[in-house]
Amino acid sequence: AGRDPRGEYVMIRSEVLSLIDRAEGGADLTRDELACLLSLEGEEQQALFAAADRVRARTMGDGVHLRGLIEFSNICRMDCHYCGIRRSNRHVRRYRMAPEEIVAAARGAHRLGYGSVVLQSGEGDALDPEELAGVVRAIKATTPLAVTLSVGERTREEYALWKAAGADRFLLRHETADPELFARLRPGRRLEQRVQCLLWLRELGYQVGSGFMVGLPGQTVETIADDILLLKKLNVEMAGIGPFIPAPHTPLEDAAAGTVDQTLNAVACVRLTIQDAHVPATTALGSIHPRGRQLALACGANVIMPNVTPGKYRIHYQLYPNKICLREEPEQCAPCVAALILGEGRFVATGPGHSPRWTA
Ligand code: 5AD
Ligand code: FES
Repeated sequence: AGRDPRGEYVMIRSEVLSLIDRAEGGADLTRDELACLLSLEGEEQQALFAAADRVRARTMGDGVHLRGLIEFSNICRMDCHYCGIRRSNRHVRRYRMAPEEIVAAARGAHRLGYGSVVLQSGEGDALDPEELAGVVRAIKATTPLAVTLSVGERTREEYALWKAAGADRFLLRHETADPELFARLRPGRRLEQRVQCLLWLRELGYQVGSGFMVGLPGQTVETIADDILLLKKLNVEMAGIGPFIPAPHTPLEDAAAGTVDQTLNAVACVRLTIQDAHVPATTALGSIHPRGRQLALACGANVIMPNVTPGKYRIHYQLYPNKICLREEPEQCAPCVAALILGEGRFVATGPGHSPRWTA
């Protein structure tokens, strides 16, 4: 890959196509090569998407796994510049679901046919660690659901407690692999600490999910290439990639949002780089484009995370504005998502949808 005087990646078409071929074959790409793929437009971008779609079909099949997302509390002690539920946002009505309500929401997800649930909250002790362990135990004892936690940077002991309670997976996006940008956007925290958490989760035997936002102010295709290389190094079982969407009443409220094309290029590159990872078609992408989730399913994604938070709570869990499904109840999203999947020529996968590495 070469660069023109403006710093843009220039490659002749045949070089691009052979780079895509190498990626499809599982070759390790350099930072510059990834940055080149992340910049593709037009027909070459379509070739990238087609390659990612073939890899997805080969490694993950045509089934789309559903993970019911339970946003059980929006209480947060962090103050991330991008996030709508950051501590200093006084416009947010704070809530926490009671343990019984969380378990009931999980049972509801099982009744809707979902094979797993994700329990997500702001960072902090909305539920004390023991209580959360109790919730995990109750769900595991009364349903066949796989349980994923997504409750932020915590101590190794807490992660161990929840693993012992039966949690199968943990989602902790690294957010951005640029250490300076990370420190600026997440006051008081360093990338290194977050990566340490991911390493603990791995040691403890969780299936690990991470990921990042696309289009953060100050991000470049090079840093997005670093994001992908970090996911590769961590060898994640799941990689979530969504556009950054500026949230009102946050320091980034006037920043530009990530674009659909940037995000799809990143999704496709992640699929080519970590070929057997679960990759969701994210709600954030569905929120900036009416067919965002469908587009992601066509370039590498194989998971959707329908919201199963009761309606009265979900309206208060707005990490970003114009989030889809805010006015829906779990029973309404289920048929909508099923129709979306069938419309793409795919089918709804059943069962817990473990990483293929776990079941193989
Ligand atoms: N736009 C898009 N995604 C966001 N997240 C947080 N705030 C925003 C935003 N403004 C993402 C982060 C977090 C996940 C739960 O939501 O990546 O890890
Ligand atoms: Fe919620 Fe479509 S997925 S309404």
